[in-house]
Amino acid sequence: MTTATTPPHVTADVVCLGESMVTFLPARPGRLADVPSFDRAIGGAESNVACALAAIGHPARWISRVGADGFGDHLLETVAGHGVDVSHVRRDPARPTGIYFRTAGERATGAEAEADGQQLAEVVYYRAGSAASALGPDLVAERALWDTRVVHVTGITAALSDSCLDLLTAITERRAGRPLVSFDLNYRVGLWKDRADRAPGLLLGLARGCDLVFVGEDEAAAAWDVHGPAAVREALPEPGVLVVKQGSEGATVYERQPDGTDTVTFAPALTVDVAAPVGAGDAFAAGFLSATLRGLPVFDRIRHGHLMAAASLTVPGDLATPPARELADHLVALTPEDWGTLRLGPGWTESGAAEVRVEVSQT
Ligand SMILES: Nc1ncnc2c1ncn2[C@@H]1O[C@H](COP(=O)(O)OP(=O)(O)O)[C@@H](O)[C@H]1O
Ligand SMILES: [Mg+2]
Repeated sequence: MTTATTPPHVTADVVCLGESMVTFLPARPGRLADVPSFDRAIGGAESNVACALAAIGHPARWISRVGADGFGDHLLETVAGHGVDVSHVRRDPARPTGIYFRTAGERATGAEAEADGQQLAEVVYYRAGSAASALGPDLVAERALWDTRVVHVTGITAALSDSCLDLLTAITERRAGRPLVSFDLNYRVGLWKDRADRAPGLLLGLARGCDLVFVGEDEAAAAWDVHGPAAVREALPEPGVLVVKQGSEGATVYERQPDGTDTVTFAPALTVDVAAPVGAGDAFAAGFLSATLRGLPVFDRIRHGHLMAAASLTVPGDLATPPARELADHLVALTPEDWGTLRLGPGWTESGAAEVRVEVSQT
């Protein structure tokens, strides 16, 4: 095992830790069994968050392990190409980089989806025994993990192996002077397999040890049989900030005040022409985290989350070109009426503030 390069010491805004994989997207829709060729891309919730944050100007580091193989090279080069510090990613000569294949259901743009008719969304993972599954609690001794304002992790890592679960347990242990620890539940039933019955309790315990938690209302229902934002807050009383995402409706945020009470803030989502739903949650987390790092009020933090999600939703892949900060800040400051009349489609992030404004007034 070797470190990719020895970096000059870099202080990050955000460290994102977790597995990324090379993913193969079908060249045409249909059953996996019938797809003759695939296009290569990369996938990984945590590196998506790091890439999105780097794209909007935050020094971001991704920590993981990849194989000493060509797929590992590709992951490192691609994530680094987005401006993320990958110098603490370990190469494992004994274990491969994880890969997965998915069918067109998840990737389809509107026209293809209709032609496909069935919207099949098979995902086949080859990640058992991957380099990243050997991540373990020894990492918490590394300065590169803590030398940052935010550490961001997700529930996916907890499912990968016992050592990965131990690592997340150690990261989410409340320790003095730690940076803000951020957790996205990302409940993936299929990953837990033989430990499926333990997953809800384990994930709840991890989330309760964090400072900022992102949970989808649907995930909370699936994992914990807990329904609605208020009930999610009851189940997760410790985090200073709890974000309950409610899909196309919006998001509700509970923020603990110094007197121990919560403020509850709801901000509606945007109307978007969805090209592919993949990656929206990661983008939302990046937008919310960026606004958190900037010290913005909670309502604006949620809106920045919605905007980054909208950027991801309007492109076919996971990673979108985010709106420039000027455009994002302009839209975040819109009145509720103007926000409500926005309709964002492909390419909207490339527009100037003035053009998006014109669309608002013409709608
Ligand atoms: N249909 C939609 N229309 C507008 N915004 C959406 C839609 N679906 C998701 N979003 C945005 O994406 C965010 C994340 O969505 P979510 O479904 O929680 O993603 P994931 O399942 O990837 O975690 C939402 O909080 C919202 O901002
Ligand atoms: Mg998610």
